[in-house]
Amino acid sequence: MQSDLVNENSKSTNDKVRSGRNLWAPARKDIPKKKEARCSRQKLSYCVPLHKSLELQLQVTAGSTEMRNRQRTGGGFQGTITMAGLDLKIPLMKMSDGFSIPMLGYGTGTAWYKKNASSSMDKSLIEATTKAAQIGYVHLDGAEVYNTEPELGAAIKASKIPRDKLFVTTKVTTNIKDIPGAIDASLKKLGLDHVDLYLIHEPFFAQSDEELQQKWRDMEGVKKSGKARSIGVSNYYKHHLEATLKTAIDPPAINQIEYHPYLQHGDLISYHRQKNIAISAYGPLTPVTRAKEGPLTDYLDRLAYKYAVSPAEILLRWCLDQDVVAITTTSKEQRMSDYLRALTFKLTPKEVQEISDLGKTYHYRAFWNKKFAEDDRS
Ligand SMILES: NC(=O)c1ccc[n+]([C@@H]2O[C@H](COP(=O)([O-])OP(=O)(O)OC[C@H]3O[C@@H](n4cnc5c(N)ncnc54)[C@H](OP(=O)(O)O)[C@@H]3O)[C@@H](O)[C@H]2O)c1
Repeated sequence: MQSDLVNENSKSTNDKVRSGRNLWAPARKDIPKKKEARCSRQKLSYCVPLHKSLELQLQVTAGSTEMRNRQRTGGGFQGTITMAGLDLKIPLMKMSDGFSIPMLGYGTGTAWYKKNASSSMDKSLIEATTKAAQIGYVHLDGAEVYNTEPELGAAIKASKIPRDKLFVTTKVTTNIKDIPGAIDASLKKLGLDHVDLYLIHEPFFAQSDEELQQKWRDMEGVKKSGKARSIGVSNYYKHHLEATLKTAIDPPAINQIEYHPYLQHGDLISYHRQKNIAISAYGPLTPVTRAKEGPLTDYLDRLAYKYAVSPAEILLRWCLDQDVVAITTTSKEQRMSDYLRALTFKLTPKEVQEISDLGKTYHYRAFWNKKFAEDDRS
């Protein structure tokens, strides 16, 4: 059950379909050509002084970053990060259950995953998560299977950020047989009395639709108990959602899936829209991390130049501009603050479309590979 976590070897296997790898990139008058776009971070800033001042302001220390104006307002909270006098709004997305979710999240899995639940606390994860929360990542994503809930709990405490100003997610899979027991165990490790979002981590445990439906009833019970404000699923495909929705009284508010330009899942996204299920994306940076060889490199560079950000921030923005929550993670403080620049601009609809179109010419699935054929883009 760690196939979503142990995935890096997928780089060397043939689970990538190289169709149309012609490095095509749309010709755009307003985007400088490749050569110029390959400036270093410093040079980018030099080229665009206006953004340099913004960049400097975003690189403020955690202590000077202040969270304010957050209050529960009829099922959600309003968030503004104030950095050196700049108000950056974390976009919030209202889910079908009436609660809102911050659209940029910080993850405590993948790179942070601990094989052994009983191993000692990972201090670097506590420090990184504390820092992330303090500089504005109020949405923190965890899971029982990562074995890092104690670190997440310690970071929440260390951040000194009031509980109602954080959005905490955890997921169940190891103890899927006993969901009521699993949420209690997770809350204990997190040191919390409730989570903002509780997810079934994956559907592959189920041998039948009835099993999916039974587990969803258990999730509804968790919500009723007040131990989770919102409930949802992760890694569910259309048939899993269809089975779940058949008997759900309180349908899944969100589905957390691997989503990036190289894995757009056919009609799965439009199915979510149709059923009013929100989407959150893990692996959003895949084109600049795991699949650097894909066809988007040049175009991302050019957009990065245009907006004076990095290609990673263009990818985060590509999610946000499609109303998809983006969950990322990094151990590097510099990247944490850099990635908040995704809140400072918007891609044009044409740019979003061009990234999607170019992304569709390539296929890369980093997680759950064993469940899918190599060329399966669903
Ligand atoms: N529901 C699920 O099944 C599932 C599966 C996977 C992940 N998740 C969640 O999603 C979170 C995000 O995971 P992810 O791995 O998928 O996130 P990601 O955003 O695609 O990648 C983050 C990783 O890439 C590295 N990275 C970040 N920026 C980079 C850059 N510009 N160039 C090169 N490397 C860079 C980071 O390492 P550095 O420390 O070096 O920056 C980090 O290890 C997880 O922590 C977890 O909470 C959920």
